[in-house]
This record gives sequence, C-alpha cells and structure tokens, in this order.
Amino acid sequence: MTQETARINPRELRDAFGAFMTGVTIVTTAGDDGKPLGFTANSFSSVSLDPALLLVSIAKTSSNYQTFSTTGHFAINILAEGQKDLSNTFARPSDDRFADVNWHLSANNNPLIGDVSAWFDCTTHTVIDAGDHALIVGKVEAFHSAGYAGLGYYRGGYFTPAKVSAEVIAGPKVIVSAIIARDDKVLLTRDADNRWRLPSKEIGKEGADKALAEIFAKYQPDASASFIYSAYNNTETHYQYISFLCSAPDEAAVAGEFVSLDEIGSNQFQDAAVASMLERYRKESQLKSYGMYYGDHSQGTVRPLLS
Ligand SMILES: Cc1cc2nc3c(=O)[nH]c(=O)nc-3n(C[C@H](O)[C@H](O)[C@H](O)COP(=O)(O)O)c2cc1C
Repeated sequence: MTQETARINPRELRDAFGAFMTGVTIVTTAGDDGKPLGFTANSFSSVSLDPALLLVSIAKTSSNYQTFSTTGHFAINILAEGQKDLSNTFARPSDDRFADVNWHLSANNNPLIGDVSAWFDCTTHTVIDAGDHALIVGKVEAFHSAGYAGLGYYRGGYFTPAKVSAEVIAGPKVIVSAIIARDDKVLLTRDADNRWRLPSKEIGKEGADKALAEIFAKYQPDASASFIYSAYNNTETHYQYISFLCSAPDEAAVAGEFVSLDEIGSNQFQDAAVASMLERYRKESQLKSYGMYYGDHSQGTVRPLLS
C-alpha cells in the first residue's frame, strides 16, 4: 500500500515500520534511591564504534520519559529468545516490573537483567528531540555479550528463529499451509467437494521455505510469511502440519479467493483442525494478539506470541 505523506494514517505507518525486523530490549535506569525503572523497546540501534555509541527512541507519552531523558545513565538489555515474558512485563503497566526479575545494579547505577543475550551499561551522551519521541544516545561504558540467540520482533509478533524452526520443521512427513491474511479475510481454496481448505503443500527435501515459495507463486505471489502460527502432529496419519501466518499487500489472488471468516461456518471446511485454527485466528485478529498452537490434531495448547 502506498501512502501520501500529507495523508498518513498512523496505524498504517506503524504497520509499515513493523516490516523492519528487530530484536527486543529492555531499557533500564535507577533513581538515586536505587529504585529500578525499565521499559521494553525495539527502537534500539547501534550508532558508533569509536566512540562507542548507541541509541533508543522513547515516546514522550511514556511515564518513564521524564526520568530517562534526564537521569544521565541507562542500560540496554538485549533479550534472549526465551525472554518473551520479560518483554511483555516491561511493556505493561505495573507498580514494580522488577518484582520477579533477576537483576543487579551496574557500576553506572543501571539495572542489568540476568540471562540476556547482551547488555550495554551507558552514560547519556545526548538527548535529541524527535517529534513525539526523543532519541536517547548512550555512551557505552561497559558491555557484555553472552552469545544466547536473541528474541526477534516482526510485524507485531515475537519470533525465535533459531529455536522454533529447528524444533518444528523436521521429519519426513510434513505439510505446510499458508494463512494468507488481509484484515478479517483469509485466502482459501475449495476442494473437489466444494469445502474450504488452506493452500498447502507437502515439504520436499528442500524444506519449508521452498514449499511456502511454491504456495505463494501459485496463489498470491506477493505474500510473505510472518511467523509459525500452528504446528501439530496428526496421530492417525503421522503427518506434521505447520501453518504459517502470512501477509499480502492486496487481495489479488492468482488462485483461490479471500474469504471473510465471519461468513463461513466450521462445517464448511475440509478439515476440523483447520476450522478450529481459523476460528482462533478470527478471534485473535480482532485483538491483534496472536498465539501459537502446539499439539496434535485434536488437542494441544496455544502459547501467546504477544499478550
Ligand atoms: C516489542 C515492543 C517494543 C516497544 N518499543 C518501544 C520503543 O522503542 N520506545 C518506546 O517508547 N516504547 C516502546 N514500546 C512500548 C513500551 O514498552 C510501553 O508502552 C511502555 O513501557 C508503557 O509504559 P510506561 O508509560 O510506563 O513507559 C514497545 C513495546 C513493545 C511490546
């Protein structure tokens, strides 16, 4: 979608910014009384090697804005892939976000969180006014890199590339399907009995990426996968089914059609597991908060990606 700068829709601008994959950090500082403060931020960027500088952008509406723009010191904690819960804790209102967190104060009076991928202990170099945000540039006084795989963030959801892909895309009998979504509509295709099904393909030797590319070429060449939405084994057929949530820039389907999930009943689907997955998608897309399903074809659990 193209937007004229004079008529920018903030929601769509935010979605477009979300096309940039990032990691997730928790930015921390402490008052003179030692009370720790922190918030989740994915606007972190490295800036300079010599001198060692980095930056993070903070919203002026944040309750932390005043403190972070004046405190003179802060730390960046880069989250590891198992630390989604921390990210959510530090993005939600709370009297004490540090209550259940393992942390200690650095030499510069900044909270350093345990088991992160890396941390940077900084003094504030500059604060730059920037619209409804301010850029806080930090001078790195000390840092540590633990080497854990980082937690990713992309189009409003977390991803854990190293772990999830390795865990679920394995074994000889794997079928991938694409939930190519546009708002409340999903690209579906009909089987010979006129029941709805998702575009899907059995994975060959080349793996899930190739199978997805073939699905996109056949149904919606401009679609792209955002993250794995569901992974389950069918204990009867012994196939593993992996569904990727995908986005498309428009509803121009080469094959199949974009159908509003409000308009079709679960009995109109070829497969009960797909019907229940898409019912979950219908509900979650209204809240813009997605989970991932693990289990078999009849029962399993949904773990939140972001909640
Ligand atoms: C993944 C993610 C990234 C975020 N990135 C930023 C950011 O870069 N800058 C920012 O000011 N807020 C960011 N936020 C929002 C803040 O974490 C959150 O709104 C803020 O902590 C609200 O509480 P506060 O008013 O106590 O700061 C992000 C939230 C999430 C979940």
